[in-house]
Amino acid sequence: MTTPENKTGQPLVHLGITRPEELSTLFAELRGRFDADCACAHDESSWKQFRDAWLGRKSGVLTQITENWLKPATLGLKRVVGASLNELRAHVESQIEARRIAIESRGEESSLLRERIDLSLPGVIRPIGSHHLIRQVFQEIEDIFVSIGFSVVEGPEIETPYYNFEALNIPEFHPVRDDMDTFYLELPPSSDKNAAPTPLLLRTHTSPMQIRTMEKQKPPVRVIVPGKVYRRDNPDATHSFAFHQIEGLAVDTDITFCDFTGTIEYFVKQFFGPSVKTRFRPSYFPFTEPSVEFDVSCPFCGGTGAAAGGGTCSKCKGAAWIELFGAGMVDPAVYGFVNYDAKKVSGFAFGIGIDRLAMLKYGIDDIQVFFQNDVRILRQFP
Ligand code: FA5
Repeated sequence: MTTPENKTGQPLVHLGITRPEELSTLFAELRGRFDADCACAHDESSWKQFRDAWLGRKSGVLTQITENWLKPATLGLKRVVGASLNELRAHVESQIEARRIAIESRGEESSLLRERIDLSLPGVIRPIGSHHLIRQVFQEIEDIFVSIGFSVVEGPEIETPYYNFEALNIPEFHPVRDDMDTFYLELPPSSDKNAAPTPLLLRTHTSPMQIRTMEKQKPPVRVIVPGKVYRRDNPDATHSFAFHQIEGLAVDTDITFCDFTGTIEYFVKQFFGPSVKTRFRPSYFPFTEPSVEFDVSCPFCGGTGAAAGGGTCSKCKGAAWIELFGAGMVDPAVYGFVNYDAKKVSGFAFGIGIDRLAMLKYGIDDIQVFFQNDVRILRQFP
């Protein structure tokens, strides 16, 4: 049976067409077939198949018409076949192109639809971190001292025994070294066999920076030194093997004990508020003379020693005072290590334990929380 699909594969004479007027039905039938095929091309791959079926050079429908209908046509038919073929070709080509454009723009539309950005959706919330409470306390203290003329310097956490002990008037075998037992570093052997081994240690306090600063700079000196220090202390609620200190040092030609107490009191009242009271107790450090321990009236019980609900204050254990830090006038022996003239200069130094200060001010009862980095604690100090 001859179908529209295979009619173009046969010469017109086999189809029984001998008169020009019979051609119009044949071409109308072909055009209908083309329009139906065109409507079925929905995407790029079906469009390509459809295009090749009609325009393919070797066996496309238009090539078949040229080969099977036009070329062998009788003279009487040839002109009408040629004209009808041209008309069909124009229709086929324009519709195939129109279809391509439609498919392409539909693809764009659907990818636009897929990639559409919904600006009304809530954004991704990236929580912003904050400074650790210890860093915040460092900052508070630095601001107070900077406002009265001190500058901030930092020093190495790995020290030599000379700076950590000897130059601070703590010779080898001095009993005070027992309190500051620390971690020594194992060093690779020196290539110079005659060189004496130079042990290195993790500094036990920020005081070595007193020496390093005075070595570098002539009086007047007014510095504070924030930093991390280490001791071989067993961890408990008030002890850690790594903790933080701020050293203070002021040296000039006429610094007196009054300058010292005035500076410390100013700092404490700025830090804890004007209502706290302060007091000195005699103490001992090999690098200060006289040496003191500095106490504040307990900021939790208002210096009464009694808890608000009765009983004794749990923070100061009823003592009404809390020990804050050690300090004193710089021992003249220390000036000898840095080539300062002990007869001409005088000064004071202090070393504040930052962790315990932060615990006091912010009501934290265990120093270990500073090192556990539990975000539930950190979030309380944004
Ligand atoms: C010193 O470290 C002296 N360098 C301070 C000083 C400086 C005195 C300048 C005079 C002149 P001390 O060992 O007391 O002093 O330590 C100072 C502070 O560090 C203590 O008051 C305490 O708050 C803190 N501290 C000491 N050991 C620990 C520890 N294991 N964990 C947490 N804090 C500590």
